[in-house]
Amino acid sequence: MKKKLFIKTWGCQMNVYDSARMADVLAPLGYQTSDGPEGADMVILNTCHIREKASEKVFSELGRLRREKALRETGGERMIIAVAGCVAQAEGEEIMARAPYVDMVFGPQTYHSLPEMVAKLARGAGERVLNTDFPVESKFDLLPEERAPQGVSAFLSIQEGCDKFCTFCVVPYTRGAEFSRPAGAVIAEARRLVAGGAREITLLGQNVNAWHGAAPGETGAAWGLGRLARELAGIDGLERIRYTTSHPLDMDDDLIAAHGEVPALMPFVHLPVQSGSDRILAAMNRKHRADDYRRIVERMRAARPDLALSSDFIVGFPGETDADFAETLRLVGDVGYAQAYSFKYSPRPGTPAAAAAGRQVDEAVKEERLAALQQLLNAQQVAFNQSMVGRTVPVLLDRRGRRAGQLLGRSPWMQSVPVEAPGRLLGSTVEVEITAARANSLAGTLAAAGTAAVPQPSAVEATVVEAAV
Ligand code: 5AD
Ligand code: SF4
Repeated sequence: MKKKLFIKTWGCQMNVYDSARMADVLAPLGYQTSDGPEGADMVILNTCHIREKASEKVFSELGRLRREKALRETGGERMIIAVAGCVAQAEGEEIMARAPYVDMVFGPQTYHSLPEMVAKLARGAGERVLNTDFPVESKFDLLPEERAPQGVSAFLSIQEGCDKFCTFCVVPYTRGAEFSRPAGAVIAEARRLVAGGAREITLLGQNVNAWHGAAPGETGAAWGLGRLARELAGIDGLERIRYTTSHPLDMDDDLIAAHGEVPALMPFVHLPVQSGSDRILAAMNRKHRADDYRRIVERMRAARPDLALSSDFIVGFPGETDADFAETLRLVGDVGYAQAYSFKYSPRPGTPAAAAAGRQVDEAVKEERLAALQQLLNAQQVAFNQSMVGRTVPVLLDRRGRRAGQLLGRSPWMQSVPVEAPGRLLGSTVEVEITAARANSLAGTLAAAGTAAVPQPSAVEATVVEAAV
């Protein structure tokens, strides 16, 4: 009999990928995914621990689920409640203790053993599962090869964990040490995704450009991401390759060169810098200076002139002064971002920066700096989007729109572009004449029906991000 599975996902794309893989693991057990918790036989909360209020959000969601579960039990039915992801990893015991109605708590490295965990639950009333192991064998080797169709734009995890230990970040503790999947396994999964209809693949990893997968056939040196991109670009039907999230230190020569040589490698890179102050970068243990970052960006743009960038910023890191913050604004002005995320620093339990008790920045100061930074970043984003008006850009139509006759796609620079287009064009790249820019999307009309080639790097003019500020 079919059972209903609802997975609620918070956080990064890695979690989105993991949720899809959990569904793949549970499918042979009869679980089919549904859109909401109502009437679900199993609900999994796939959680994120990166910034504050993570566990409060989980506990308030659990409160709602507890009522749903009670309702089902009065009807004689069972609802399994599970907490997965990084909050589960970091606070597993506390969740088990505080929420006795939660049946399973398991960390990000354990999804392959979901069938065993479910079997354990089925064995007896009162059985509960807490699994926050970091197993020696990689979960990737144990996950099923088959994946449910992922649509036109698919995620593919190639790397997990992090050895960088930025002093503000929980990832090295919740996701564990850096691990790269072998090149052969990645290529095989990419081929399956493309065979299932994917035209764009986003390679995922907490430190994706640190990927160094064993070469296929286990001969020769490990591959880097540049080499992998070149190989994937050879897969027939795969038009676009993206990767996220990157660390500036791992942006090696070959990957930079690949941006100039592989048209399928999209000209939009998320390259978090966090701060523009050398003092703060050192305190964050980022291991590079602001000028190193500027140089990397310059080299990437030299390789691919239309490259646009996105970043993450933290304001109010312990000890950050007005002068440090001014350096961040200066860096933003110098680089010119197409889009970016910015956050107030929040102390994460167990991280070195959280222990800097006397040096924490005032909440009001953090608010002020965040507002100033976001104002600048928003202005850059608007200017970047405006620079597209009047141009014709290739758009990969990857979803149906809300209105009939409308398809949604993305430009090479990740801008969302809704267009009036016949449904048969879903999955193809079309040329769209951009007529207007909004803060978060572009408006346009189909220039020429049918598929179009992905732009060659040399054929695309440089985008004028410099004009933003
Ligand atoms: N406080 C604020 N922002 C954080 N990030 C990670 N840890 C923290 C923290 N403790 C941000 C970083 C990172 C993004 C995913 O989340 O900018 O790049
Ligand atoms: Fe966290 Fe990224 Fe630093 Fe790793 S490189 S510790 S994931 S911020």
